[in-house]
Amino acid sequence: MKTLALITTKPGFEDKLMRELKNKNLIVKYTPFRGILKIKGDELKEIDSKYIFKLIPVEKEGDLKDIENLILSLIKEKNPKGRFVVRCNRRGRHSFTSEELERRLGKIINELGYKVDLENYDFKVNVEILQDKVYLSIFDKNFKEIVYKENIKWLEKINKYKVRPLNRAENKIREIIKKFPYIFTNLDIVLDIGSAPGGWVKVLSEKAKKVYAIDPGELKIKKSNIIHIKKRAEEVYINESLDLITNDTNLYPLESFKLIERFLDNLKVGKFIIYTLKAEDNKVKENLRDVLNYLDSFDNLELVKVIKLKSNTKNERTLIIKKVG
Ligand SMILES: C[S@@+](CC[C@H](N)C(=O)[O-])C[C@H]1O[C@@H](n2cnc3c(N)ncnc32)[C@H](O)[C@@H]1O
Repeated sequence: MKTLALITTKPGFEDKLMRELKNKNLIVKYTPFRGILKIKGDELKEIDSKYIFKLIPVEKEGDLKDIENLILSLIKEKNPKGRFVVRCNRRGRHSFTSEELERRLGKIINELGYKVDLENYDFKVNVEILQDKVYLSIFDKNFKEIVYKENIKWLEKINKYKVRPLNRAENKIREIIKKFPYIFTNLDIVLDIGSAPGGWVKVLSEKAKKVYAIDPGELKIKKSNIIHIKKRAEEVYINESLDLITNDTNLYPLESFKLIERFLDNLKVGKFIIYTLKAEDNKVKENLRDVLNYLDSFDNLELVKVIKLKSNTKNERTLIIKKVG
């Protein structure tokens, strides 16, 4: 069965597209390339889809090594008239560039008596290369690219809000959750100091009933259980019991640590503080020692662990502290 079209989708959505089209009784095959599939069959019909980004009709396919003969036989079959252009899209590794191939093929077609016109052509020889396979078509000058704009729009949105982290900070809190899952069970109220743009509160709001986010800066995330207090922590007073305090402010280590003190009475005994120490350049040891000495002066706080997370910078350490009395 021949290839009728190449279809593209957002990388990662190949399975969804495959299922969607199989349910429409279409024959779809994967290619070795992310985001590219093939439609097989006898006749190409209009396809309604939620996942296709672009559909490229194919008239002839074969091995890349036979590309010249394939083009000559397609031209013979279709016998197009007028001036032409060759356009090549290449995926994979090759010893030539797309432009070099366009020129080489252009010369061969030229030898048949056709004239090249890059701007005002009458037909386009479209060449799609997937490593050692080639998919060819001749498009009339009036052919319009088949692009599913609505799909691109909504799938890009998914990318932004669900797949990609909001920032590097989001990875830090996710790593902490993996390492210390017990800290994040049964959370009613969490207080996050230095929240903007919102990577931590985004994740915390999935774990807790309510998250207070203290930061004079803007949050990029809005949810009904995130309460943004748009002030510096020094000006904030909270009148509720807390199950967790987190602090990722970009201040000098002791200055940042002292912000937590304002809310210590609110933290329930047995609950935790997660604090990112952001040391001055090349002073991790010194700054950490200062903070640990300071921590020692609290009878009701106990250091659980100092960790260097994968997503910490070289000057960052994450401290897990427990309120014990
Ligand atoms: C590295 S960012 C925090 C990133 C955040 N954890 C996230 O997940 O997106 C540091 C934040 O600390 C905030 N900050 C600095 N000093 C502060 C203070 N005194 N009170 C509250 N927030 C402060 C800054 O405005 C900045 O947005």
